[in-house]
Amino acid sequence: MKIVAMGRALPQYVLDNQELSGMVETNDEWITTRTGICQRHIAKGETVVALASQAARQALAQSGVPLESIGVVIVCTFTPDTATPSMACMVQKELGLPQTVLAFDLNAACSGFVYGLAVAEALMDRQGCHALVIGGELLSRLVDYTDRSTCILFGDGAGAAVVSPAGSRTVTDFGADGNAELLSGGGYNINGGREPLRMNGREVFRFAVSTVPGSIRRVVEQAGCTLEEVDHFVLHQANHRITEGVARHLGVNLDRFYENIVHTGNTSAASIPLALWEMQEKDLLHPGDRLVLAGFGGGLTWGAMLLNW
Ligand code: COA
Repeated sequence: MKIVAMGRALPQYVLDNQELSGMVETNDEWITTRTGICQRHIAKGETVVALASQAARQALAQSGVPLESIGVVIVCTFTPDTATPSMACMVQKELGLPQTVLAFDLNAACSGFVYGLAVAEALMDRQGCHALVIGGELLSRLVDYTDRSTCILFGDGAGAAVVSPAGSRTVTDFGADGNAELLSGGGYNINGGREPLRMNGREVFRFAVSTVPGSIRRVVEQAGCTLEEVDHFVLHQANHRITEGVARHLGVNLDRFYENIVHTGNTSAASIPLALWEMQEKDLLHPGDRLVLAGFGGGLTWGAMLLNW
């Protein structure tokens, strides 16, 4: 499987730490040192479908892949505009993709994009086609802006990848461990209202730093290479200190981990494709580069993937 091109879309409105400090009892210094986040984009009217379609259009235009070659559309999200139609079906309509596409949403929270790439790889084999894998989230829908332990972390956005069945097989490692105590939200309460995001930050932190390094080691070992031979590590952007912790556990220099959390915050399934888009824009990705992607979060879920650019 090969990622042919990336696209991205961010809401116009930027909520910075200064403005958040006027909404809850917090301050820029606390947020920056504990999370690495300075600002996040927040939707004011934009929808998941609109952002996902915009990102997908950009990726398709860059890829040169004709619409008729797209046979699979996966939108990775746990904050869809509607449960049905799925976001993937709406992207099919917005972009005028063939009605022969297999289109569906995938909810693996912050591991979504890595799960989505793996599912797309398997489906492309069956269908003999290209795929569109999109991470699109409006976390601001679920955030309680009176809860300072969560509202500082999350942002909105979408990143899209056009994926081709060409190239070498990816190597993956996945896991899931049902647990609503650490991170939950988005269900309906007894009055029919949406439940906001609730999180035990410390425990989520511990889960991430103790699970992700093992998952990365397993994909590297399975691929028959070493950590030194990996060109870029692209982790879900949850917290700069989580990335630091994972790098430390692996004994890998932090400068090989791409980070953009400073200006996007945690955008769940959108965070890895947003980072890949930026890396491509900065010309950091070259044919044959070995990448390790690692998602982790709600579910609990986690997943690592080694692929060649
Ligand atoms: N501003 C100022 N103070 C805050 C604050 C804020 N936004 N949020 C919490 N605090 C306070 C707490 O009330 C606590 O005060 P106390 O010591 O008087 O009780 C103190 O800061 C420490 O809180 P704690 O929760 O232990 O901080 P932390 O160092 O664990 O950082 C997180 C909190 C949320 C930043 C951190 O746990 C984290 O990032 N966890 C992972 C979350 C994540 O990535 N979730 C998504 C997974 S995909």
